[in-house]
Amino acid sequence: MEDLETWLERVYQANGEHQTLAALYDQWAGDYDQQLWASGNPYIAIATGLVGRHVTDYGARILDAGCGTGNMAQVLHQMGYQNIDGLDPSSGMLAIAQRKEVYQQLHQLYLDSQIDLQDASYDAVVAAGVLTHGHAPPEALDGILKIARSGAAIIFSLSLIAFEEYGFKQKIDELDASGAWEKLDQSLLFRTYPFSDKEANLRHWVMAYRKC
Ligand SMILES: C[S@@+](CC[C@H](N)C(=O)[O-])C[C@H]1O[C@@H](n2cnc3c(N)ncnc32)[C@H](O)[C@@H]1O
Repeated sequence: MEDLETWLERVYQANGEHQTLAALYDQWAGDYDQQLWASGNPYIAIATGLVGRHVTDYGARILDAGCGTGNMAQVLHQMGYQNIDGLDPSSGMLAIAQRKEVYQQLHQLYLDSQIDLQDASYDAVVAAGVLTHGHAPPEALDGILKIARSGAAIIFSLSLIAFEEYGFKQKIDELDASGAWEKLDQSLLFRTYPFSDKEANLRHWVMAYRKC
């Protein structure tokens, strides 16, 4: 079995190339949950905490964007949220998400400036581990805003490297200036994989916005 660091290196090296990345996640899917939870990565804990703070309706229609094997929705379901869809390009990750029986619908799709889902149809969009280098691009925030209804909470983890070097700072500044959303919350910057020496420099925040 490959370790977490090996898989991370492979998925980052795919550099966002769709087919290569999806194939790698297909192969990782079987070991993913065990490795994620053992890694101590806190982004699902923080993101679900912010959902609890900002999404008060347990019937809210929530999209788990880049849902992978469904860990975020599993926690949201355990918290009482009942109306969650998932989106991910990897069929292997989606197959495991399906088995958790916490999603209304699962969509095999990419996040980008256009997402093939109905505009203004979600009360909240959550994304953990997806807005980072080599994964969804900054324009994914435009796509998320299109499918979110006015007033929807948008809660996502964001890596420091994606913010500083892969265009997310510019995109977030642009959305702030346009009045497309307003900021609700931002976690402290945290170490993504607290037990990994190799990933010692990787940092994330979790951010929360409301679509205007
Ligand atoms: C690190 S995993 C996170 C999975 C899950 N959100 C979690 O926290 O356990 C990243 C996920 O993003 C998906 N992904 C990669 N590029 C994507 C894109 N452009 N749009 C949507 N999902 C993408 C991958 O298939 C993978 O399942």
